[in-house]
Amino acid sequence: MAVFRSLLVLAFAGCVLCKFGAPFEPCDKDDVKCLITAIESFFVKSSNGIPDIDIKAIDPLIIPELKYEVDPDMGLLFEFKNINVTGLKNQQVSDFQWASATKSTVLKTKAVLNIVGDVKISLTKNNKVFNGVYSASYTALGNLQYGVSLVRKGDFAYIDIEPEVNSCEIIEEPVISLDSGLQNVIDNDADARALKPSFETKKVTLRKNTLCRVTEAAYATVIQNIKTITKVYPCLAFFNNMCY
Ligand SMILES: *[C@@H]1O[C@H](CO)[C@@H](O)[C@H](O)[C@H]1NC(C)=O
Repeated sequence: MAVFRSLLVLAFAGCVLCKFGAPFEPCDKDDVKCLITAIESFFVKSSNGIPDIDIKAIDPLIIPELKYEVDPDMGLLFEFKNINVTGLKNQQVSDFQWASATKSTVLKTKAVLNIVGDVKISLTKNNKVFNGVYSASYTALGNLQYGVSLVRKGDFAYIDIEPEVNSCEIIEEPVISLDSGLQNVIDNDADARALKPSFETKKVTLRKNTLCRVTEAAYATVIQNIKTITKVYPCLAFFNNMCY
């Protein structure tokens, strides 16, 4: 354990006040600014993953598969493969609140994301499938709520996190593009063209909904990393004044 810790200390050298070699400094629980800085620095320092402690890479982050029924009425189904999400390491934390009374925390983030992935677009009512590459640039707000409790293990108390709510909002209109081959096939397909007027009336909402599913899938890894880091380092590595 000592060797393991000193390796981590080397990995995050320069962090003068860090405890137990954690990649961030401990904060007072009410010092929101300090907490936000610690969380943002954790996203940056762990963006390529830290395999020794099972922290997964978040930038780029690959979502192997994602199926989403974009609009059941229109019969529009997207099946993504290998979505490459970039931008999570620079996500900004807009709020982090620890509510000891309710034993819950709220973490609000804003991220400018770029994604690119293979997509299979199905018009389920027409039994038609189009394959190609889907890209998007957009700004996502994440709103995560956790239940938090302290669990004693050995000499130290550890923070135990239970995700409760994970919601997403896409602000501003996302920029979407399909590769030219796919776009061309869709533009020239009679069934796809018949759906176009109805798609146009709600496309911003449909696109935002689709991108929120992608963002939530990406945030699952971000949340997993937060859960992992609180298992690796005791509460004292995160907080000065609530670890009893
Ligand atoms: C994901 O995208 C980034 C940025 O375009 C690129 O550098 C990286 O190689 C891609 N990763 C994979 C696995 O395709």
